[in-house]
Amino acid sequence: MVYQVYPKSFYDSNGDGMGDIKGITEKLSYLSELGIDVIWLCPVYKSPMADNGYDISDYRDIDPSFGSMEDIDKLIKRASEKGIKIIMDLVVNHTSDEHEWFKKSRLNKDNPYRDYYYWKKPKPDGGPPNNWRSVFGGSAWEYDDKTGEYYLHIFAKKQPDLNWENPAVRKEVRDMVNWWLNKGIAGFRVDAITYIKKNESFGDIPVSEWDGLASVSEMSLNQPGIHEFLDELSRETFSKFDIMTVAEAPGVPEEDIKKYIGPKGHFSMMFDFSYTDIDSVKDGMWYETREWSVSELNEKIARSQLLTEKAGWGAVYLENHDQPRSINKYIPEKDISLKSEKMLGGMYFFLRGTPFIYQGQELGMTNVEYDSIEEYDDIASKDQYDCALKNGLTAMDALKALHRISRDNSRTPMQWNDKENAGFSTGKPWLRVNPNYKKINAEKALKDKDSLFYFYKEMIRIRKESPYSEVLTYGSYSPVFKKGEDVVGYARILNDRKIAILANLGGKAVQLKLDSAVKKCILSNTEYKEGRDGVICMEPYDLLVLDLSK
Ligand code: GLC
Repeated sequence: MVYQVYPKSFYDSNGDGMGDIKGITEKLSYLSELGIDVIWLCPVYKSPMADNGYDISDYRDIDPSFGSMEDIDKLIKRASEKGIKIIMDLVVNHTSDEHEWFKKSRLNKDNPYRDYYYWKKPKPDGGPPNNWRSVFGGSAWEYDDKTGEYYLHIFAKKQPDLNWENPAVRKEVRDMVNWWLNKGIAGFRVDAITYIKKNESFGDIPVSEWDGLASVSEMSLNQPGIHEFLDELSRETFSKFDIMTVAEAPGVPEEDIKKYIGPKGHFSMMFDFSYTDIDSVKDGMWYETREWSVSELNEKIARSQLLTEKAGWGAVYLENHDQPRSINKYIPEKDISLKSEKMLGGMYFFLRGTPFIYQGQELGMTNVEYDSIEEYDDIASKDQYDCALKNGLTAMDALKALHRISRDNSRTPMQWNDKENAGFSTGKPWLRVNPNYKKINAEKALKDKDSLFYFYKEMIRIRKESPYSEVLTYGSYSPVFKKGEDVVGYARILNDRKIAILANLGGKAVQLKLDSAVKKCILSNTEYKEGRDGVICMEPYDLLVLDLSK
């Protein structure tokens, strides 16, 4: 079980308003109480924080706002005493523009670091070399006066892309990865890794939107040749250690999944976006969302699970630091309750793969609605807000879109108690605390045996240390309902063992007929009643985890 910590928002030990590494060490008992095995630590390396640490200026140093190398060593040690391992974020598609390599690279055209990044001449009209749109919005190219050329940035302009074609870059990356692994970390979550290879024509692509640009994905996601880079990386680093790696790998074609996570794949597991991005418009602007249905969600989960199972092992999740809070995404506002929160947890927690929990998810933390763009911090939210205004949205509508999709929704400070600043910091928090902290906080949850926290704890126990652990770990995945139901349903099967997981996400009661008799209800968020002739009645937002073994 992996727990994702966003360090800036987790716990501030020194009152400067920002979470830090010592703060995480102080809260290890909380995590240990929940029962997790691994912490995924979002970046704590030295960084000017344009993208909160995903813009690294020194891979081998810790940002002073988070603490020191000594603090990290202590965290690794203290966590290990509690049986918890630490994995770090590996961000190697790009660096910060304040990294030494880039500073040297931009000085002139013929220094050895020039080729560490992608530099291109302007078009004859002086414009960017092509019409690629960066992931955060706007051109993917930034002009640099000094040498009169543009550099490529798939993400923000303070995140220039490393040129993986250059063997010197690949060697720097490998040496750094091994340096960290030798320090005793348990692996990496690998950031935006499917972007490292670009289409070297660097040509224009057909314009897809009003901004005259086209999504960079087409020319930089999963391009032919990427596997040579990744083979080399995993051969020379990961495979030499007993570690886990999980790739953030958007855009992997189905037939390529095995190259990522198969027996000879580059990584132990990867995140799939197909069902967590169910509300986003393909290659559209972030602020655009689409309608979806429960049966579509069920189908997407089934497809993702079956494809992953064919190839290797999966990573299952509902939230992370880039996603809004899951309860707001999957459950209509009027139906948000402890019951529907538990249902949502159970819906994904027993899928085949390693479950990931994002900080605060176990408390039912929700999206935040700031009143003005100034209150937002996230660089992507600001870029998207600007794009929305340029596209004719009113400021009010653009703000409404942020309330729904901003990455700051999941980045608000962790809600520890009902005291000032939710107990996150004694200083002024870098991002305003969600005003609902008096109702939703860890202290309250820990005092209430019926809370969502204890429900997650119980789900972890069932997966890890119960008579059902084996089937829930190694069992295959089988969808229970194919079409038309408002229920996400699946079974985990191992030899003669069979567990069904049923989550009624629709707002209506349903009656279901299962093909096997129910031996026992293992977990639910409601009182389980079996109807006549093996028919099961599920009220809205019921969750049932049933033992159907013979
Ligand atoms: C990944 C990270 C995201 C970051 C981006 C650029 O998608 O999860 O937070 O902004 O990469 O590094």
